[in-house]
Amino acid sequence: MSAVTRALAAAVLLHMALCMDIPAPVHLVLSSQYFVHLLSWEKGPGSPDGVHFSVGIRTLSGTEVVVKECENVTSPLRCNLTEALSDAEETYYVNVSASLGNHTSYSHCSPFQPILNTMMEAPLLSVAVCNRTLCVSLRAPTEKLQDVYNSHRFEYRLVVSSEDGAEFEQKIEGLRTVTLEDLAPGRRYCVNVRIVNRSTPHRDPVCADVPRSTDVSDAVISVVLCCVCVCVCVFF
Ligand SMILES: *[C@@H]1O[C@H](CO)[C@@H](O)[C@H](O)[C@H]1NC(C)=O
Ligand SMILES: *[C@@H]1O[C@H](CO)[C@@H](O)[C@H](O)[C@H]1NC(C)=O
Ligand SMILES: *[C@@H]1O[C@H](CO)[C@@H](O)[C@H](O)[C@H]1NC(C)=O
Ligand SMILES: *[C@@H]1O[C@H](CO)[C@@H](O)[C@H](O)[C@H]1NC(C)=O
Ligand SMILES: *[C@@H]1O[C@H](CO)[C@@H](O)[C@H](O)[C@H]1NC(C)=O
Ligand SMILES: *[C@@H]1O[C@H](CO)[C@@H](O)[C@H](O)[C@H]1NC(C)=O
Repeated sequence: MSAVTRALAAAVLLHMALCMDIPAPVHLVLSSQYFVHLLSWEKGPGSPDGVHFSVGIRTLSGTEVVVKECENVTSPLRCNLTEALSDAEETYYVNVSASLGNHTSYSHCSPFQPILNTMMEAPLLSVAVCNRTLCVSLRAPTEKLQDVYNSHRFEYRLVVSSEDGAEFEQKIEGLRTVTLEDLAPGRRYCVNVRIVNRSTPHRDPVCADVPRSTDVSDAVISVVLCCVCVCVCVFF
C-alpha cells in the first residue's frame, strides 16, 4: 500500500471517528394502562459502550417537561412518565436521545394524549334497591380519576340482563346514579357497564333482586287468595 493510500485510509477513519453518528435508540414503547405511563427503549444496534440516554418531553404548546430521573439513563432503559404526562387532555411529544461525548441521536414516540391513548377500565358500579326498583351508581376506579371519568369525552352504557335472558341497554353520560325503569318485581337482574367506543377488560356483572311488589292492592289480592285456599282446603 502506498503512503498516499495509507494516509487516505487514516484520514477516512479519523473522519468517521469524529463524525460518526451514534445509533439512535430503537423499540421505543410507551405503554399506558389506567393512566400509568411507562416508556422503555433499547440501544441502537452497534451502540458503543458509555452511551447514555435522556428522555425529552414537549407539550403541544411547546412547554418542556423535565423528568430528572430520565436524564443520563444507562440502565435499565426505561422511565416512568406517569407524573410527567399527568394532564390527561394534553398532547405530549416524547423523544429519547442517545449521547456519547458530543454526539447525539434521537428517536421519537408518536404524539401521545393520555385520555385517548391509555388503556382504560370500565367505571365501578354498584346496584342497590331504591324505590322498589334498582338504582345503579357509577364511580371512577380511583378517586384521582373521578374528573377524567366524568369528562364529556366518555359515554357509558349499562347492559342489564335478567335471569330469563332478556337484556337491555341504557345510556349514561358521566358518573351518575340512574334508576332502572320497568323491572319486574321479584326478579334478579345483573348489570354491567362499558365505555362507548373503548374496549375494556372483562369484569363480572353486579346483580341484585328487585323487591317483590308490596302494593296494597297486591296485599289484598294475596289475602283473598289465601282465604280462597283455606276455604278450598276446609271444604274438600
Ligand atoms: C466535541 O466537543 C469538543 C469540545 O466540547 C470540540 O472541541 C470538538 O470539536 C467536538 N467534536 C465534534 C465532532 O463536534
Ligand atoms: C427532544 O425533546 C426535547 C425536549 O422537548 C427537545 O428540546 C428536543 O428538541 C427534541 N429533539 C428532537 C430531535 O426532536
Ligand atoms: C447529564 O449529563 C450531562 C452531561 O454529562 C450533564 O451536564 C447533566 O447535568 C447530567 N444531568 C443529570 C440529571 O445528571
Ligand atoms: C410509576 O409511577 C406511578 C406514579 O408515580 C406509580 O403509581 C407506579 O407504580 C410506577 N410504576 C412503575 C412500574 O414504576
Ligand atoms: C324515589 O321516588 C321519589 C318519588 O318518586 C323520588 O323523589 C326519589 O328521588 C326517589 N329516590 C331515588 C333514590 O330514586
Ligand atoms: C363513537 O364512535 C362513533 C363512530 O366513530 C362516533 O360517531 C361517536 O361520536 C363516538 N361516541 C363517543 C361517545 O365517543
